[in-house]
Amino acid sequence: MTEKDWLWDEMRQVGTDYADLAEVEAYDARMGAFRDIDGENRETLDLLAVAPGAAVLEIGCGTGRFARAAAAAGMVVTAVDVSAVMLDYVRRKAAEAGTAVATRHAGFLTMGLPDGAFDAAVSGLALHHLPDLWKLAALRNVARALKPGGRFVLRDVVFAPAADEAPEPHFERFAASLPEMRVPAARHVAREFSTYDWIMEGLLRRAGFDIVSQGVPVESLAVYLCRKR
Ligand SMILES: C[S@@+](CC[C@H](N)C(=O)[O-])C[C@H]1O[C@@H](n2cnc3c(N)ncnc32)[C@H](O)[C@@H]1O
Repeated sequence: MTEKDWLWDEMRQVGTDYADLAEVEAYDARMGAFRDIDGENRETLDLLAVAPGAAVLEIGCGTGRFARAAAAAGMVVTAVDVSAVMLDYVRRKAAEAGTAVATRHAGFLTMGLPDGAFDAAVSGLALHHLPDLWKLAALRNVARALKPGGRFVLRDVVFAPAADEAPEPHFERFAASLPEMRVPAARHVAREFSTYDWIMEGLLRRAGFDIVSQGVPVESLAVYLCRKR
């Protein structure tokens, strides 16, 4: 029998292809249309409440806006992504700013980091690249990499329809809430693996986190502050 022949291949890009250099360079401009990324980064650093010198892990760093902001604030940052193109970009931009970000070409399932090495962890709009079956393994790996009591800020598209609401109109409302990004928003629903709020909450708890707070500042874009038990 092949060893781990059931393992999800996280190196295969799902949905938008972040291994494509043109996509990487357009990414920040596209996100800026509906996200205040600098504001998100400030909020995330506040939620993490760690001092300069703290070891911070980011998984699915993309262009590294958070990783680079954390490095500029004095954190010792390790940024993980399955896209080598993204990681090249992060290192180049960090160096241009006179900072450094350590990068690791891997994903949630394959990052293989030492247990308890990090004071805090962050992931933004990346976990939805994994099907629910694999999100638990991913979140357990994040918990394992953290020190006890370490904080984790998870930001992602999570759907929270009312108890008596059918999912389809909820998905249409999400896609319609982003008129300039209708095509990628619809593709997100159709092809990527965002899940429901109650599933995400169960996964976080089962992975070993307490949920300290949660909010939805923008339609379907949830933020969870978690603490490793
Ligand atoms: C939508 S971007 C988010 C980038 C950034 N964190 C942000 O908040 O804008 C998703 C990123 O997750 C990466 N990614 C996809 N699957 C992943 C996995 N299994 N593990 C880690 N990163 C992954 C992609 O390569 C991409 O850079």
